Amino acid sequence: MDKRIINNIDLLTSALASLSAENKWLDSKWFYDPAGSVLFEDITKLPEYYPTRTEVKILTKNIDQLQAYIPDGAALVELGSGSSTKTRILLDRFHNLNAYLPLDISEEFLKQSANELAFDYPDLIVDPVVADFMVPFKFPENHVNSSKIAFFPGSTIGNLESDKAIQLLASIHEWNQVSAFIIGIDLIKDIDTLISAYDDAAGVTAAFNLNILHRMNREIGANFDLEKYKHEARWNVEQSRIEMHLVSLVAQIVNIGATKICFEAGESIHTENSHKYSQQSFAKIAAQSGWNISKFITDEDDFFAVAVLQPK
Ligand SMILES: C[S@@+](CC[C@H](N)C(=O)[O-])C[C@H]1O[C@@H](n2cnc3c(N)ncnc32)[C@H](O)[C@@H]1O
Repeated sequence: MDKRIINNIDLLTSALASLSAENKWLDSKWFYDPAGSVLFEDITKLPEYYPTRTEVKILTKNIDQLQAYIPDGAALVELGSGSSTKTRILLDRFHNLNAYLPLDISEEFLKQSANELAFDYPDLIVDPVVADFMVPFKFPENHVNSSKIAFFPGSTIGNLESDKAIQLLASIHEWNQVSAFIIGIDLIKDIDTLISAYDDAAGVTAAFNLNILHRMNREIGANFDLEKYKHEARWNVEQSRIEMHLVSLVAQIVNIGATKICFEAGESIHTENSHKYSQQSFAKIAAQSGWNISKFITDEDDFFAVAVLQPK
């Protein structure tokens, strides 16, 4: 067996199952290897990618209102923290925090971002947690009983189908001593704005999408030819979501280790969903997972929202 296969048995198991399905798909969490995490950062700086700059604007403008929800000595726990760039807006204002716990699946990138943060905020305890937020995880021992504020920016909640989104929100509701939850939500808007945010002119989102094939070549002994797939962003009106696909340009057979995966010309691998919410549709999943919405703050164009949730 190829040594690289042993290095990522989880990716191998997950990819073989989802690529053997009738409609091929991949779990979007596999986007985030070191190269994918850097590409995502590049996406956040694109002119077409409105979510990051809009969320930053909302957080910056409303930071005093948010401060009211932060108990003295609390730990700020961020899910899918990536570069922790937006977190700095919170940390610059919430001087009463005791600790910051960034949690991410992308280990190398998480540790580098946490080190930079610890250097810039020497009075704050920074304890990174490498974990998949969809799987039960343990808080570091010294934070189990701290009061906690959850932070989930980036509209990452939109990557989950509603049953999984409810499962994740409900699991955060069960954390010991969680008093508030600050979450970023991308809102329904015109299709052209949505599509171009996921299919930019410079091709950065395409590179991010294709990197998942490259990752499988590197880590699980696959032999995808990246030239034979193209990135596509589609709006699924029934599901209110942008879908990212990798479309096979030709009929082809790909090997993953000893397994052969057949593609017809035009067949796609569905690689990511980004669900878009209205205030009502988000309120529904929040209520189903045990949360009240205490604040729902939008920008002037109603492109994006930052909500503060509190346990019912
Ligand atoms: C859309 S990016 C958002 C990054 C950052 N929070 C922001 O607002 O720009 C999603 C982040 O969640 C992480 N992530 C994705 N799936 C995850 C999972 N199942 N468990 C933990 N982290 C995950 C990725 O590594 C990435 O850093």
